[in-house]
Amino acid sequence: TMATTETPPLLPVGDLPTGRALPALQKLKNQSNPAGQFQATLTAAPRTVQFKPGLDTVVWAYNGQTPGPLIEIYEGDVLEIRLVNQLAQPTTIHWHGLPVPPSQDGNPGDEVAPGAERTYRFALPAGSAGTYWYHPHPHGHTAEQAFMGLAGPLIVRSRLDPLAGMPEQHLVFSDLKLGADGKVVGNNDMDWMNGREGQFVLVNGALQPVITADGMQRWRLWNMCNARYLNLSLGGQPFRLVGTDGGLLEHARAITQLLLAPGERAEIVVMGNSEVSLQALAYDRGMMGDAPPPQTLTLAKVTLSGGATRPIPSHLRQITPLSPGGAQKRVVFSEQMNMAGGVHSMTPLVNGKSYDMNRVDLVSQRGVVEAWSLVNDSDMDHPFHLHGTQFQIASRTRNGQTVPEPFLAWRDTINLRPNETVVIHVVQPQAGPRMFHCHILEHEDRGMMGILSVV
Ligand code: C2O
Ligand code: CU
Repeated sequence: TMATTETPPLLPVGDLPTGRALPALQKLKNQSNPAGQFQATLTAAPRTVQFKPGLDTVVWAYNGQTPGPLIEIYEGDVLEIRLVNQLAQPTTIHWHGLPVPPSQDGNPGDEVAPGAERTYRFALPAGSAGTYWYHPHPHGHTAEQAFMGLAGPLIVRSRLDPLAGMPEQHLVFSDLKLGADGKVVGNNDMDWMNGREGQFVLVNGALQPVITADGMQRWRLWNMCNARYLNLSLGGQPFRLVGTDGGLLEHARAITQLLLAPGERAEIVVMGNSEVSLQALAYDRGMMGDAPPPQTLTLAKVTLSGGATRPIPSHLRQITPLSPGGAQKRVVFSEQMNMAGGVHSMTPLVNGKSYDMNRVDLVSQRGVVEAWSLVNDSDMDHPFHLHGTQFQIASRTRNGQTVPEPFLAWRDTINLRPNETVVIHVVQPQAGPRMFHCHILEHEDRGMMGILSVV
């Protein structure tokens, strides 16, 4: 027997309206007067919305918005966000990718009880300009809170941005699994095993919106899906990759496809003079059981209408390669298959263990560059994520063969294909506990997570 795939009848994909203009993300308003400070409140609460006109859907939203409001700040600013928890379960806010102190990072075990509140406070250091996001991280409830709608984008800007002045668009991808009754459907056993994919992939909360680009544009992209991989293509048209999770690359790179694993972000520059579809091309991530074969999805219709272009500066940023000082670590993702009571299930593990909030799994010295070997010893892709810092990829081997890594970049999330080993160079600037885990949120909740203690 297989794990249960039982699910209530789903809302047909054709039932949601398509083709409206891409909704702009609403910005979180700064309530502070002094320059260099950003103060605001995020209230996590249930809210009723209508994705299908006339059909109520209860989501969990920050300030009533899903995706959550866009936080835009500058390097050097101090951010002070009050979280008010109006959910019926504990929550936290994790600042994905930002080097915030461990006490302010919304770790599991540092939860805000239902009805309670707390304030997160931290400064954005120089050099942190990039494309980040925030989402809950309470252990065992992260996947549910994210798929109910709690996740939002965050941009740290630099006052010396080589692309300043280029028009920007922001594309937040999320997926939504709706029943025919309009309710968000809970996870079945297959969802826990493979990670959940909804039947609707939304861009800024809309199904297949229309994006208009007059002239050259900088797009920031966020994959906020729990488990869905987005192998992005603009109808085969070339575009330029200019940034990853942790900000700009050294040079723009012409590409036609970009794989964004769950949790990853990118910055691209688009231009052209045509009507194309923004698609997520079929990508086989090794799902188990009777998961349907991967499909190509249309995410948006894009009108590129020529207009003003200008050369992208040939040098965007200097990235100094990290050189490790000897310390090495190994992190192995694996899956343990179980057959209890005649039912197949899968336990995802890190270094052979399931997450324990009272156990320290690895210890690093603050300020010391280390080499970590990230090993995927399983049949499914898993995106590795480490809190508290950005890292660099040093090398990659798959089935024993070297896969060339063509450019230097700052990342906090990196996909591991089956039988792949990725060596990263990483340094933690602050002492305290840091999480590392698979960013398929169902795997994280099921224990594919460990604790790094930085001393
Ligand atoms: Cu985006 Cu530990 O998470
Ligand atoms: Cu995983």
